[in-house]
Amino acid sequence: MPLPSKPLTVTDLQKMKSRAERIACLTAYDAGFARVLDEAGIDIVLVGDSLGMVVQGHDTTIPVTMADMLYHTRCAARGVSRAMLMADMPFLSYTDPEVALSSAGKLLQEGGASIVKLEGNSRQADVVSRLSREGIPVCAHLGLMPQFVHKLGGYRMQGKDQASADAMRKDAALLAEAGADLLLLECVPASLAETITREVTLPVIGIGAGPGCDGQILVLHDILGITPGRTPGFAKNFLAGRRGIPEAVQAYVQAVRDGSFPSAS
Ligand code: KIV
Repeated sequence: MPLPSKPLTVTDLQKMKSRAERIACLTAYDAGFARVLDEAGIDIVLVGDSLGMVVQGHDTTIPVTMADMLYHTRCAARGVSRAMLMADMPFLSYTDPEVALSSAGKLLQEGGASIVKLEGNSRQADVVSRLSREGIPVCAHLGLMPQFVHKLGGYRMQGKDQASADAMRKDAALLAEAGADLLLLECVPASLAETITREVTLPVIGIGAGPGCDGQILVLHDILGITPGRTPGFAKNFLAGRRGIPEAVQAYVQAVRDGSFPSAS
């Protein structure tokens, strides 16, 4: 059965997982790029707080405000018709369930997002469950959580030892039980990401987490080779050797769908 031409819902993504159809996701921060992604068949356009780095020129995502997120989400919303629009909850916008409800409500009502993403482990389960109870779809972000960079001591792979891998598996299960609709795993060993993807019923999107997830996401600037500073090792420049940005995005979608990106090594 073909997927609807617009707009994708969490139920559609759930069906893709059950049919083993890979979910292709990218970030965008404005209407022009969101439209290019939508037309290339991207399933989820994420207005990521990575905009703090790739658009605003900061070193971290921490300076990004709710006003910034609302502005960029509103812009991107004008560019999508089929893709699901996901917006990041910025730093300190979900410190407790009521604060989170107000922040997420703004991203949906004023920004036009249809799902929000937040970083956090099972400590955020009460936040996830509050949003879910009010009908707000949530993507829980585990593994490397860039908003925690100062606590983590840098941008490093997470879940490398047995104890932290077990804790992540437990967090994933608890967040799913709390009502999360999607899970995003960033910089996690491929074998751990594959295990979590098998263990939870909700779709799992990976970034730097190997090929065993239900879908993949990258930062748009990384696939275009225009990231300021160092590009993460797991990213790939899809513009190299292609005629333009639409063709690069189509190549990325194709590579995610056919499983050639990311490679197993
Ligand atoms: O902010 C962002 O772009 C993200 C991706 C790295 C997944 O969270």
